[in-house]
Amino acid sequence: MAAVVLVGAQWGDEGKGKVTDFLAEKADLVVRYQGGNNAGHTVVVGDQEFRLHLIPSGILYPGRFCLLGSGVVIDPEVLIGELDSLSKRDIDTSGLRISQRAHVIFPYHRRLDQLDEERKGNSKIGTTCRGIGPAYIDKSARIGIRMIDLIDREELAVKLERNLREKNSILENIYGEKKIDFEEMLALYSSYGERLERYVADTSLIINDALSAGKNVLFEGAQGTLLDLDHGTYPFVASSHPTAGAACLGAGIGPAKIGRVIGVTKAYSTRVGEGPYPTELAGELCECIRRQGCEYGTTTGRPRRCGWFDGVAVRYAVRINGLDYLAVTKLDVLSGLEKIMLCTGYRYRGEIINEFPASLKVLSECEPIYEEHPGWAEDISTARCFEDLPVNARRYLERISAVAGAPTALISVGSKRSQTIVMTELF
Ligand code: GDP
Ligand code: IMO
Ligand code: MG
Repeated sequence: MAAVVLVGAQWGDEGKGKVTDFLAEKADLVVRYQGGNNAGHTVVVGDQEFRLHLIPSGILYPGRFCLLGSGVVIDPEVLIGELDSLSKRDIDTSGLRISQRAHVIFPYHRRLDQLDEERKGNSKIGTTCRGIGPAYIDKSARIGIRMIDLIDREELAVKLERNLREKNSILENIYGEKKIDFEEMLALYSSYGERLERYVADTSLIINDALSAGKNVLFEGAQGTLLDLDHGTYPFVASSHPTAGAACLGAGIGPAKIGRVIGVTKAYSTRVGEGPYPTELAGELCECIRRQGCEYGTTTGRPRRCGWFDGVAVRYAVRINGLDYLAVTKLDVLSGLEKIMLCTGYRYRGEIINEFPASLKVLSECEPIYEEHPGWAEDISTARCFEDLPVNARRYLERISAVAGAPTALISVGSKRSQTIVMTELF
């Protein structure tokens, strides 16, 4: 039995999709356990690029079981669109299963997400406006509608009617918006239910049976540790838990079943959306990394903020997730830079801080303490083992591991499957 949990160790977009796809070759089951279509995981197979928002990145292997656990929030329109676009590209999606207990996103969640961001003005979170936060709010408020309701027209009608009464009152009276028509919404969502019914299952049972049968299960996190609702840069966070502990909750397995936890991190850092970011770069250097790394959001197309590797943040991710290993991605993007900075600590009002602070007031005043590393000029995208890398790249990687406090199991030097250096086998 092997259960490997893969999480983002930074602010999302670390390359989880690529690493999941790479590891999925040896996995029998790939499971998403939190988040929704705020995620955007780009996977390159041969000369084809796939942008996945909900369906786990394991789907690109024929016959692979890919599960959406109870902790995921599902926008059925997006999911159906993703299924259709994969089918058009001859990808077999018959292995998809969706938890009966996963909550459903409705158009009022999307609209309320947008309206709330507009209302906040300068203090907006910079959400993806996909309705993720409002759907999790309804889940916590115990008024959410789950997949099991979506496929039961009577239940759906009762719950939707009740929810629309409340949402329409907010839309009309607070925002001066048009009401959402109950009959229209019921007809649309019943049709989604009919379409998705064949995939709806008790996913926790499937996962536990697979683990008992000695199968390999890979848990694919979305977002990143610093976007975690409890442990991230609150309130500039997502509304779920992208950290490893959530794999148990969002998939329905016990903690003792987890074998290894892998944290994916870029060899530098990026962030989309608002919130403090101590190692953020501006000007030409930021532009250069953004250009070299194609750092534009997979979901919203927004330019990603770019900066140096933040050892304080990743060390914190090692602690919060209990990371056994790092997977370091996008090392190739740094090729050609004369020098590379690596943040080992922060300076706050003259004091040295080594642990990631809870206070955003403190974090936004923290100045990174940098270690300077000489760069390398060589194109490293064809490196296939550690020894193929220039000595400066090797030294830089070794410092990333030492500063973060976890060994590196995988190094990625390009978006393709073949552009991966394996230091330790994970399955
Ligand atoms: P995710 O959300 O964590 O799955 O990451 P995204 O897919 O949003 O962003 C990562 C981007 O970097 C994608 O376009 C990947 O194809 C690409 N990528 C992943 N690993 C590498 C790498 O090692 N080098 C380069 N140049 N690109 C990579
Ligand atoms: P993947 O899985 C990067 C960010 C948004 C915003 C905050 C809250 O591709 O790494 P939300 O729409 O979730 O309410 O937005 O979280 N965010 C992400 N940033 N990668 C993601 O996913 C993200 N999902 C959400 O930009 O700052
Ligand atoms: Mg992404």
